[in-house]
Amino acid sequence: MPALLEVIERQQFIMGDEVARLEQAVAELSGAAHGIACASGTDALLLPLKVLDLQPGDEVITTPFTFFATAGAIWNAAGRPVFVDIERRSFNIDVTAVEAAITPRTRAMVPVHLFGQMAPMERVMALAARHGLAVIEDAAQAIGARRQIGGGWRMAGELGTAGALSFFPSKNLGAWGDGGMIVTQDAVLAERLRKLRTHGGAKQYHHEEVGTNSRLDTLQAAVLLAKLPHLGAWSAARRERAARYTAALAGLDALTTPWVDPANEHIFHQYTIRTPRRDALRQRLTERGIGCAVYYPTPLHLQPCFRDLGHRAGAFPESERAAAEALSLPIYPELSPESQERVVAAVREICA
Ligand SMILES: Cc1ncc(COP(=O)(O)O)c(C=O)c1O
Repeated sequence: MPALLEVIERQQFIMGDEVARLEQAVAELSGAAHGIACASGTDALLLPLKVLDLQPGDEVITTPFTFFATAGAIWNAAGRPVFVDIERRSFNIDVTAVEAAITPRTRAMVPVHLFGQMAPMERVMALAARHGLAVIEDAAQAIGARRQIGGGWRMAGELGTAGALSFFPSKNLGAWGDGGMIVTQDAVLAERLRKLRTHGGAKQYHHEEVGTNSRLDTLQAAVLLAKLPHLGAWSAARRERAARYTAALAGLDALTTPWVDPANEHIFHQYTIRTPRRDALRQRLTERGIGCAVYYPTPLHLQPCFRDLGHRAGAFPESERAAAEALSLPIYPELSPESQERVVAAVREICA
């Protein structure tokens, strides 16, 4: 790949020009003024949460039906994760439940745009404005996803205080290793985040605060820059394949195909069905060599590390039901109609 050879010849492996070019391009795609590349999607959540300077007992509201990093980042930024349940159809945060969970200690919310479809950001932002809360969008699975708000399209990461993107290899825009980016409209926040990702210093050997090493490698930026022009077509191809599955799986009593909020353009990072026969279906698909995955088998309020938060099974019934019923079928831009037919046939046998 010539772009990689160029980086190797230049030997500017850290903070090379490609990083700044990628930051600009991804910010633009996300409708944001600034992009700050960092080492992972996890750090893209952690760094803006750190900026909030959370004090012991400060609360950050999120959902328990997400990848661990969402709540892990809240914890590592000294916040107390406060879980609220999800909406059954979308798997995304239930904004009515968020409102009920706000206390005088609430400082922020982390809505997750799960599986590639945006949470209802217009409602999240209205609530945040009313209560003076920061909003860190977990857009790790939703780069390029958009939602119609107020008559126009708004991108994942555009409206929150900051948005966190992941370039984990399996993501719609995947690097050849770990990587992430924070997007924001706020120039002051962007400046602060740039410092935090390089040990808190804008100038070398001068540290205004304690940051960390969370940079994106120039080689990864070069890979991502080469892929980025294709992202729109790849996500459209995922949508086509999702529509094909949904048509082919219609009419099965024991199966629910993904619901797309009419305001959303989904990027189908995952195509996630639900069925009470999930475990049997997973076994059948696996026996036939068809890859499938359970995201996520244990909701975060039931993880051992959050035991001290005091939640029991039954606390968040929709999240727990989703954890028992959700199964993600193979979806990627190159997935052939024949492969999809094999998947559909196996699903029909179990769920008919
Ligand atoms: C919802 C969600 N949040 C956060 C992350 C963390 O991203 P990363 O794996 O790049 O640290 C991921 C990806 O794995 C994710 O799916």
